[in-house]
Amino acid sequence: MVMNIVILGAGQGKRMKSALPKVLHPLAGKPMLAHVLDAVKDLGGNQPCVVIGHGGEQVKAFLDTNYVTVSTAIQKEQKGTGHAVDQAMPHIQNEGITLILYGDVPLIQTNTLQRLVQLAEDGALALLTQNMANPTGYGRIVRNTEGAVVAIVEEKDADANVKKINEINTGLMAVPTKSLQQWLKKLQPNNAQGEYYLTDIIGMSVLEGMPVRTTQPSFDWETVGVNSRSQMAELERQWQSHLANQLLDAGVALADAQRIDIRGTLECLEDVQIDVGCIFEGQVTLGRGVRVGPYCVLRNVQVSDGAQIHAYSHLDSATVGQNAVVGPYARLRPGAELAKNSHVGNFVEIKNSQIGEGSKANHLAYVGDAIVGKRVNIGAGTITCNYDGVNKHKTIIEDDAFIGSDTQLVAPVTVGRGATLGAGTTLTKDAPADQLTVSRAKQVSLAWKRPVKADKK
Ligand code: UD1
Ligand code: CA
Repeated sequence: MVMNIVILGAGQGKRMKSALPKVLHPLAGKPMLAHVLDAVKDLGGNQPCVVIGHGGEQVKAFLDTNYVTVSTAIQKEQKGTGHAVDQAMPHIQNEGITLILYGDVPLIQTNTLQRLVQLAEDGALALLTQNMANPTGYGRIVRNTEGAVVAIVEEKDADANVKKINEINTGLMAVPTKSLQQWLKKLQPNNAQGEYYLTDIIGMSVLEGMPVRTTQPSFDWETVGVNSRSQMAELERQWQSHLANQLLDAGVALADAQRIDIRGTLECLEDVQIDVGCIFEGQVTLGRGVRVGPYCVLRNVQVSDGAQIHAYSHLDSATVGQNAVVGPYARLRPGAELAKNSHVGNFVEIKNSQIGEGSKANHLAYVGDAIVGKRVNIGAGTITCNYDGVNKHKTIIEDDAFIGSDTQLVAPVTVGRGATLGAGTTLTKDAPADQLTVSRAKQVSLAWKRPVKADKK
């Protein structure tokens, strides 16, 4: 059956106090609108149409780069949810059902939407509702004595009895398209807010004898809407806590389930341990028995079995081999590839470089655009001078080389297999295999008297 998808996002979001349109504010590192678009991806519907208004150009620009096939409809003035849905009608197929979602209700889950859509598929109006201890502010679901839904009454139009109803309208619904189109034409703004209420179609459906069915979300946070920074912060914590619980259920040892942030996808094999304060962004995979120390940031990183990432390390677009040890205070930049059993220690920065099996750079080094062989030792203070101010050049360090402390490798340059560089060497020519290469001013010792402080004379 044809399924149209309309996402409302024209509201201003005044309470966010931001130049960024509300639906582009990130939750778990991703714009709210993107969460909704990703949730409908696997529903098998038509390409969604997003209704934009306030900050519409920014929203459109975001969609044009990230969701090219999604269409937009412009609602110039915000005259209500019914008016908003009506703006999308020229962009949809005039058949099947139409699923209506909100761009500021980001955490709606695909399986909940599947349930909602199924209810509508045999010719019913399907509403997603929720029972709330404090329903203030929401439209209430009014049922007759048989329990059938007869209307939705907005808070501002509700009398004392209606206000007591705990079942609320989440706003998300699935409606047979042809009926929806006819009903939208009949909406009138004769209510407390002078708006075209989408919710008035429920009464019309009842009059025409079309059944109104309801289902509820699996999790309360699925239908939480965001209107302010504080609601955003609260929803972020609820979502992070959900993700943390999923990890715990999957066998990951979290030092504190309240102190982890996942802004993307984190995949963990057995017996992974994660200490407090870590942030995972993009796609991160952690192999068997991997340990991540406190306050690490890992973005688009693959860590193989048994590796350890110690405290305060920052890894971006890097791979860490089996049983490798990283940090504390290490920085792996894009293209850092650490082979198994390698060690990258404190205040070491690695960029676009391969570090071979068993090689070590334990203290204070910069390795950029380098290929480092196996069992190499890179001493403290070593720097690859990879940039001549214009171009980047490669440094090659072959197996079993030993790079003395405070060495500068002026690229392009190669250190041969088994070569030793004396401490303080500035290497500008290739170092031959197995020899000691050293560039250093000769050490001298002179007879000398240290001056005495003037006023002590
Ligand atoms: C609406 C429902 C209410 C429900 C509540 C859930 C109506 C009349 N009321 O309330 O029953 O309990 O949602 O949060 O439908 N929007 C537009 N254009 C407009 C107006 C709204 O695009 O002209 C969008 C907003 O950006 C937002 C969504 O529609 O994403 C809901 O708007 P909002 O003003 O928050 O909802 P209410 O009308 O208060
Ligand atoms: Ca709202």
